[in-house]
Amino acid sequence: MRSKRNKTIDFTLEEASAKLLNQIIQPTDNLQKTSDKIINGDSFKVMTKLAPHQVDLALIDPPYNLNKHYDGLNFKKMSTSQYQAYTQKWINLLRPLLKKHASIYVFSDWATSIALAPVLEQNFTIQNRITWQREKGRGSQKNWKNGMEDIWFLTTDADNYTFNVNQVKQRRQVVAPYRQDGVAKDWQATKNGNFRDTMPSNFWDDISIPYWSMPENTGHPTQKPEKLLAKIILASSNPNDFIFDPFAGSGSSLVTAAKLDRHYLGIEQSLLYCAWGQYRLNQVKDNRTIQGYTDGVFWERNTLAAQRKLQRHKGEI
Ligand SMILES: C[S@@+](CC[C@H](N)C(=O)[O-])C[C@H]1O[C@@H](n2cnc3c(N)ncnc32)[C@H](O)[C@@H]1O
Repeated sequence: MRSKRNKTIDFTLEEASAKLLNQIIQPTDNLQKTSDKIINGDSFKVMTKLAPHQVDLALIDPPYNLNKHYDGLNFKKMSTSQYQAYTQKWINLLRPLLKKHASIYVFSDWATSIALAPVLEQNFTIQNRITWQREKGRGSQKNWKNGMEDIWFLTTDADNYTFNVNQVKQRRQVVAPYRQDGVAKDWQATKNGNFRDTMPSNFWDDISIPYWSMPENTGHPTQKPEKLLAKIILASSNPNDFIFDPFAGSGSSLVTAAKLDRHYLGIEQSLLYCAWGQYRLNQVKDNRTIQGYTDGVFWERNTLAAQRKLQRHKGEI
């Protein structure tokens, strides 16, 4: 029997209500003015039907170049040149949808990045390569376990793009608190410990993969954490901007966009994943929490107790 603490969203399509399924948009609907929705369809077809020049921030989490089973799709590992052609194909469809000063983030693993990076460089300005240090990863007897992912930060204009650095600071516990003339230097002493808000770097070691006791967790095999998406959305867009995700999966980017008062549009080939995403979107009105993002900063791992204490102190929970 499933533990009561297991919050995983993994209902079947038969268990989904007709009302929920009716909220999901079909490619036959008029898509020109569609916003704040999930479209159930093939991105390579649907993108041709969307209005041009509307996207401020594109979050692209495509199938990595691996054999992977998604509901309704068996993605097969390709040769490097085939994967590059696949990437160029979605870029050609994405480009007309972007605004002049848009940002694009593309997710990848190290092996896929070898094929991906040259194509990204031909099409956009590469601003950075973020390393997300994940905790989870399959061990190997003959190789190092993979404990990281790449996130490529790209822009359409080399110099003119949104970057709100002050909205993505990281709160770290101060190990050796230094005082000058008795005054704390660059850190704050609180009842819950000593903390410093630091400038965000391109090495992200504060974000866990969603797991079973987290309310955001679904049955999707490669779900991204809301905390990770929140960093990107806060840094690279402003309230009311339009966020687009053509490989939306369980809707993580759309849910995070909604929680942060952005508009959004997602496309996903699996109706089941769309239903999980829509279910999560329907919960946003009652719960806008993003685990690990409290008090306008991103907290390092294992600080939940301090975050809760602060929220209680502020009367937020
Ligand atoms: C890496 S997963 C994205 C996971 C997502 N970021 C999340 O947090 O749940 C890629 C997704 O793209 C979907 N997909 C693959 N090819 C597609 C296509 N041509 N059109 C629409 N969706 C597609 C898969 O079904 C899968 O859910």
